[in-house]
Amino acid sequence: MKVIQVRHGGGEYPVYVGQGLLGMTSVIERHLSGRILLVSDPNVARLYLDRLRPSLKNFQNKRRLILPDGEQHKTVESWQRIIDELVALKAQRDATVLALGGGVIGDMAGFAAACYMRGIRVVQMPTTLLAQVDASVGGKTGVNHARGKNLIGAFHAPNAVIVDLDTLSTLDERDYRAGLAEVVKYGAIRDSGFFAWLEAHAEGLNARIPQTLEEAVFQSVRNKAEVVAADEKESGQRALLNFGHTFGHALETATSYEVWRHGEAVAIGMVLATRLSEFLGRVEAGTCDRLVDLLRRLHLPTALPQDQDPDQLLRLMRLDKKNRADQIRLILLDAIGKASVVPCPADDIREVLNP
Ligand SMILES: NC(=O)c1ccc[n+]([C@@H]2O[C@H](COP(=O)([O-])OP(=O)(O)OC[C@H]3O[C@@H](n4cnc5c(N)ncnc54)[C@H](O)[C@@H]3O)[C@@H](O)[C@H]2O)c1
Repeated sequence: MKVIQVRHGGGEYPVYVGQGLLGMTSVIERHLSGRILLVSDPNVARLYLDRLRPSLKNFQNKRRLILPDGEQHKTVESWQRIIDELVALKAQRDATVLALGGGVIGDMAGFAAACYMRGIRVVQMPTTLLAQVDASVGGKTGVNHARGKNLIGAFHAPNAVIVDLDTLSTLDERDYRAGLAEVVKYGAIRDSGFFAWLEAHAEGLNARIPQTLEEAVFQSVRNKAEVVAADEKESGQRALLNFGHTFGHALETATSYEVWRHGEAVAIGMVLATRLSEFLGRVEAGTCDRLVDLLRRLHLPTALPQDQDPDQLLRLMRLDKKNRADQIRLILLDAIGKASVVPCPADDIREVLNP
């Protein structure tokens, strides 16, 4: 087991990364207090709730809430159900919300913990690769509004994050690969050594070898923790985590969130951003080929489909919240392992969107 301390404005919390952690009572118990509300979804509860039971046996006052899975249920209504359960549990300020699931459960449970009595404890137990390397660390919580993703939310740091790598063995292939795209992102934007390590261990990642997974998740969380410690509320460095995301969000929106997993769209977005970096002479020639090669070896998509309208993507990119004035602000690479926020004229962006 490896442990990373994440520092933030209000203190710090540990992220444990290892195998068998859902059954490790000594680790889990020390982060629970008061009455306990466990929040999960049906898929995860069916697979993993039993492993957690021994760690909760010393807590008399507890309830569990199983919410329907899927992004369409990341709503104010689901959040309300969590609050209702906390009320039914007669939870006090020392109570703990335990979030067992992917990013959807983690974001909603975290947001309920942020709001109930103006903030109670939350322990995150992420079970998807995306949630382990990204969503569970950093304190962003929230739900969607019919008019936009994550429009309602709060910053609320967890008290601990417990990553049991064994849960990845049951994850759907596309969900697993989508998580790998975010892993590659950390190497690309701020850690060339990690990027080279990923190139050397792509086969181990594809085979989900536990030791390889442990290193990949650990290094990803370490990178995210360093960024969050430097910039908790996203005024500077944290924006670099959006590498590939402006292109990716436009692609997801253009296809009504029905075609691409978030990580797949981000993989294509990272390639487009790197191609643009090369077109503008910011990185040495061949950088984009290197990224494409790694993403392909991880079986991630690397190009826009032929029938994707470039003008539609450009229109959607103009709506991105990072923009100032009339320029589109993108995260571009200066090298593998180094990125910057760069305002880009639409004509330059069109160059890489055209097939
Ligand atoms: N807070 C943040 O900083 C942050 C960062 C990135 C993404 N997010 C959010 O994360 C969400 C996406 O998270 P996600 O990709 O984890 O999706 P998800 O939570 O919807 O999980 C995907 C699917 O996998 C299933 N599942 C979860 N763990 C499993 C396991 N171990 N084995 C088998 N099936 C399992 C779930 O039931 C679900 O059907 C989005 O809402 C996004 O906005 C938040």
